[in-house]
Amino acid sequence: MAVSSAPGKVYLFGEHAVVYGEPAVPCAIEVRARVGVEQRADSKLRIHAEDLSLDGFTVEYGGTADGPPDVDVQESLLTAAMGYVDGAIKQVRDVTGEDEVGFDVTIESDIPLGAGLGSSAAVAVAAIDAGTRELGTTLETDELAERAYQTEYEVQGGQASRADTFCSATGGAVRVEGDDCRSLEAPDLPIVVGFDGGAGDTGKLVAGVRGLREEYEFAADTVESIGEIVRNGEEALAADDIEELGRLMNFNHGLLSALGVSSRSLDSMVWAARNAGAHGAKLTGAGGGGCIVALDPTDETETALSYTPGCEDSFRAELAETGVERLE
Ligand code: PMV
Repeated sequence: MAVSSAPGKVYLFGEHAVVYGEPAVPCAIEVRARVGVEQRADSKLRIHAEDLSLDGFTVEYGGTADGPPDVDVQESLLTAAMGYVDGAIKQVRDVTGEDEVGFDVTIESDIPLGAGLGSSAAVAVAAIDAGTRELGTTLETDELAERAYQTEYEVQGGQASRADTFCSATGGAVRVEGDDCRSLEAPDLPIVVGFDGGAGDTGKLVAGVRGLREEYEFAADTVESIGEIVRNGEEALAADDIEELGRLMNFNHGLLSALGVSSRSLDSMVWAARNAGAHGAKLTGAGGGGCIVALDPTDETETALSYTPGCEDSFRAELAETGVERLE
């Protein structure tokens, strides 16, 4: 068996706008998905998952299924999660040319599903890495990121940027603009995450922004302004200017909110963080529900979030300096 892990991420800046060619800066954090892949004697695919939102279940492809898994998540999330693994295994078969080989795949993830922390990218990266290694091929990070991107692209029906998958494969803070992905020097940021226990529907949220952008010039301008914030954010990161980073994150949240992708619980958590003295706070990822990211070197934000109605979990997240890690 080969086992790889890959980190989740927060967006410091630029989600949604990145879909329209603006730059974005995601940053890998130390919450990980670990995926074990073991070759089978037959050509079936059996997936077992344990995760924060999935209580533990098994799905078998190409054989008799055990019936629908009994899990406490939306059906669409579950189908999507399985789709990523299926897609990742297709990439493994494609890289290695071994079309007929079957696998037992075990997923253990600390990353909530669909909550803006890049769970699907982390699972895709770790699954492709472990799967190819199980068959004796070790991919370079760039190819791994590309293959994981292809997986997301297919599962999400063409609505995916390279941000999540590149960030998860390489670790650290990265800058993504269209096809151009690169690593950035980043200081050790005091990242605090708040999670409302829910998830947003990325496809619907992306479509909503697309519609606004087509209908209103000011919505298109808002997307461009997010790009400007990202460029300023890069300078603030390079200068290690955490106060400026926070101000820009606040601004970015306001514009995302104007584009209709925030929610009451995300806004409550953002305000709780700001009132607790965070340098700045914003939603991360597609929005609609899920997580916020705040910058606060003190414990105040984490404490305030733990008392905020609508916040289910809050934790400090270290920057993940390495992306994919090969464990076995
Ligand atoms: O919620 P996440 O982590 O899947 O992030 C979605 C980010 C978007 O910019 C909204 C879409 C994308 O693919 O970049």
